[in-house]
Amino acid sequence: MPVLLLALKVEMLDMTEATVITVDGPSGAGKGTVCAILADTLKWHLLDSGALYRITGLASERKGIDLDDEAGVADVAANLDVRFKPGNEGVTVLLEGDDVTTTIRTEEVGSLASQVAALPAVRAALLQRQRDFRQAPGLVADGRDMGTVVFTDAPVKIFLTASAEERGRRRYEQLRQKGFDASLPALIEDIRTRDERDSNRSVAPLRPASDAKVIDSTTLSIDEVRDEILSIIRNAGLI
Ligand code: DC
Repeated sequence: MPVLLLALKVEMLDMTEATVITVDGPSGAGKGTVCAILADTLKWHLLDSGALYRITGLASERKGIDLDDEAGVADVAANLDVRFKPGNEGVTVLLEGDDVTTTIRTEEVGSLASQVAALPAVRAALLQRQRDFRQAPGLVADGRDMGTVVFTDAPVKIFLTASAEERGRRRYEQLRQKGFDASLPALIEDIRTRDERDSNRSVAPLRPASDAKVIDSTTLSIDEVRDEILSIIRNAGLI
């Protein structure tokens, strides 16, 4: 092939965006688990966008930045020194070289994340970082606004939900298995409060994209959710 044509072909390949499927929904709907399984099954990349908000909340706290200081927190978000290291035991998250994999999953950091996620400047600062995860052969993007803001052109958009009671119960079981003491009514209340804040914020509120397929996982197993999403991906001709 002449050099010019070859260069053109390479250029065109570069311009073609890798495919992406978005999975949005409230916490506890099973998104994290099912997205990890999907990425593993398809051998695609995984974006856990919630982790970026959690890390931003934790990093701001560690730097002593007040969470009301929107510009200060956005600056932390824009300059995050974070690495996601995949391994046999799952993904290790390093913040400035420090392993924060378990710390970012605590309820405390979840609350910090919810507060920083309500700040428009923080969301803007994290936008390109999230889009950079879109690489061949494909991306599974897990979050709240993946289909409505970050990857609006995604060919498959899922909105995964479940009742607040069921999500509270799942969280309760998770915490108990890890040996933590927990109150089920308090967890359900906390989930409702967080849903309320995530759904009513002015920027990127939690809602299904108009072209999203809504899946209610209240009475479904993880395997059933995985199979339903895989069949949607197959029907869309992506695999
Ligand atoms: O999914 P998670 O629990 O790790 O998310 C933590 C917080 O970040 C939660 O309050 C919702 C928020 N979030 C968001 O606003 N947008 C995203 N794309 C992902 C998470």
